[in-house]
Amino acid sequence: MSDRGNGLLVKGGRLFDPGSGVDGIGDVLVRDGVIAESGEVAEGQADEVINAAGLWVLPGLMDMHVHLREPGQEHKETTATGTQAAVAGGFTAVACEPNTVPPCDSAARLAAAMETAERTAVARVLPKCAITLGQKGRELTDLEALCAAGAVAASDDGASVEDGEVMRAAILSAKQVGLPLTLHVDGPAMVERDIGLAAEAGWRVHFSHVSLAEEVGLIAEARAKGLHVSGEATPHHLALTADDAPVGNADFKMNPPLATARDVAALRSALADGVLTVIASDHAPHAPTEKGLRYEEAPPGVIGLETTLAVVWTRLVEAGTASPETTVRALTSGPAEVLGLSTPSLRKGAPADITLFDPKRSWVVEPRHFKSKGRNCPFAGDELRGKVVGTIVDGRVAMREGSILEAGAA
Ligand code: DOR
Repeated sequence: MSDRGNGLLVKGGRLFDPGSGVDGIGDVLVRDGVIAESGEVAEGQADEVINAAGLWVLPGLMDMHVHLREPGQEHKETTATGTQAAVAGGFTAVACEPNTVPPCDSAARLAAAMETAERTAVARVLPKCAITLGQKGRELTDLEALCAAGAVAASDDGASVEDGEVMRAAILSAKQVGLPLTLHVDGPAMVERDIGLAAEAGWRVHFSHVSLAEEVGLIAEARAKGLHVSGEATPHHLALTADDAPVGNADFKMNPPLATARDVAALRSALADGVLTVIASDHAPHAPTEKGLRYEEAPPGVIGLETTLAVVWTRLVEAGTASPETTVRALTSGPAEVLGLSTPSLRKGAPADITLFDPKRSWVVEPRHFKSKGRNCPFAGDELRGKVVGTIVDGRVAMREGSILEAGAA
């Protein structure tokens, strides 16, 4: 199903687009990859109609922290399977981390990743590049060339830049080319150091997977001073504490690790107060054989693309600690703003990236049914409320009721 004929009409859903101030029952007409009309649209105008009664129609969700593993670790995930997982979870765009094998640290490698995405992805892929060559923390990558090649941000995810002088130079270089930096948080000391360096350089930094109350405090303080500092929280750090992890179960092992109830409360308040403006999955697939190793040897990381919205909806929205508006913003305009991209929107003329969500549907998380190759999900067996039932990317229905409808279309 696609809008390439005479259009696609999403009819009678609750259009919920906080960025545009829209919340009400209505229709969206999609034609030639853009939203042709939004509001009330007569039925005869389109070849295809999706009955969205009872559904929320959201601007396409964006996940700015995803590990696609291609090239080099295709046994964990590929661009194809990772983006299929993305659309299954309602994400129309994913920013992918550079810690592939080899790392994405040159324009040629970035171009190759983009070429793979063009061939195989069913969601938009926004590549991040490494900050240092080989992600070794010593020599800077050529951010100018990487930016020109299409990098949306530079990231050292999976490995922090330990050397403060290297980070200082990286921030200056990123500033010169106007590239956002998304930094792997490794405790409050490093957050404090990087906020100081960003302030000195007059450039913005974003902190990935913030998990501790102290880190939240530093980010809040910096933002109150008017510094361009932002941060994201993952669904697992928002929903779980270390006490929820069964001893020795590596599906609960990630970096940074699950924290305390006090930390979780701080993350939730920060989201509600606008200190943290992004929810990102940190989707980090590993093969079942790798996660099945002894706990100490198992690699850190959990998957999240197919559960993020439902986990946040069930554990935060339904529990009254996050509003639907905060949640949708943190999955749309929040990440777009950090990456300097246009805000996903249901307005006429916007790219036709749309997520259809049934907030009432309950389902049980069964990783064996995931589109991702990963099974390392800490929410396995949980009953969640809220399910993404359709995802439209660039005007094409990429997923409907769990079926991937068009490959290689994004
Ligand atoms: O748990 C994690 N896994 N944290 C990271 O920062 C990297 C990621 C991975 O690549 O598996």
